[in-house]
Amino acid sequence: MTARRLCASLLLVAAALVGCGADSHMAPFVPDTTHAAPADTVPLRVYGDARGRFVGAATGTALTMPGDSGARLRTILARQFSMLWTGTFMKFDYLRPSRSVYNYTQADSVVAFAQRNRMVVRGHTLVWHQQVPAWVLNGNYPPDTLRAILEEHIENVVGHFKGKLAAWDVVNEAMGDDGNLRSTVWSAIGPDYIEQAFRWARAVDPEVPLYYNDYNIETVNAKSDAVYRLLSDLKTRGAFIDGIGFQFHYTAQAAPSADAIAANFARFTALGLKIQITEADMHVAVQNGFAGAADLQVQARAYRDMVNGCLRTPNCNAIEIEGIYDGQAWVSDPAQWGAPVLYDIRMRPKPAYYAVQAALAAR
Ligand code: XIL
Repeated sequence: MTARRLCASLLLVAAALVGCGADSHMAPFVPDTTHAAPADTVPLRVYGDARGRFVGAATGTALTMPGDSGARLRTILARQFSMLWTGTFMKFDYLRPSRSVYNYTQADSVVAFAQRNRMVVRGHTLVWHQQVPAWVLNGNYPPDTLRAILEEHIENVVGHFKGKLAAWDVVNEAMGDDGNLRSTVWSAIGPDYIEQAFRWARAVDPEVPLYYNDYNIETVNAKSDAVYRLLSDLKTRGAFIDGIGFQFHYTAQAAPSADAIAANFARFTALGLKIQITEADMHVAVQNGFAGAADLQVQARAYRDMVNGCLRTPNCNAIEIEGIYDGQAWVSDPAQWGAPVLYDIRMRPKPAYYAVQAALAAR
């Protein structure tokens, strides 16, 4: 960030603090549930800039949604966020309908939208066990052919976006919940497939930061221990890994404290890794799409604690959320949970929005 931009950001934040009396202790929250993203609210990205953190969201279908709803979502996205990602358009199955066809149209529009609105893009994701096309899954390829398929995928895709992304999730969710590496279509390549993926990506683009990304590793536990050992081993072997992404999919009631997050982040920082929060959502019980007032407060505190965990970690440079609004957010178990992000189904900012804002503003 230039000195001039930082000063401008700080002035805006200062104006907001004077105007709103932001409360660093966060209780009670003052949700504005009657207005859609008031135009005079200082955007999250301005607070994020002042703290040296990107604030991001997944686009969903915001870029192509017709009518007023689409226009409003795009306005929220561009105004509030400085980073974006797509949960669909950069995945293997979407990009590669067949071995010889690369389908970059939608992903390119995401990058173009970001460039027009001074946002950065996280690339997500190159190697994952889900959203793999049938032609790969059912191809019965011998290990060497599978290796070639993955290598050519990484070469083409990283090459296509060279110079345009702020990060690549090279490998996503390779660790099983039991702390052993998952057995996936890609593990058939051989035990070195993770290391190779990072090497192939680095060979094509020497600049873009390369990340390992996973869930249920936000605090110290058996799975994060295993990921720590994996990344530490990769580092020792000279693999080109720059950072780790923590997904942060939680039910709000069970979300971790800032202390627990910061303690875990510290050991990954000590490995020399950058840290990003990549897919945050905090689920609560819902009825007709809406959460109850008490749950919204619990959710707001969960978001606050997550932001504070990042702010206590100098290497943590991004806080990114799974969707823009509750009407279009990924939920692991929609029968039980929902309303996981910062704007409700009517696109109004929730207590969680103000919690993120206040946590970023507090000193
Ligand atoms: C989700 C996307 O948000 C959805 O749009 C898509 O249909 C399925 O995937 N962990 C991940 C993300 O790493 O890629 C997933 O995103 C959510 C779980």
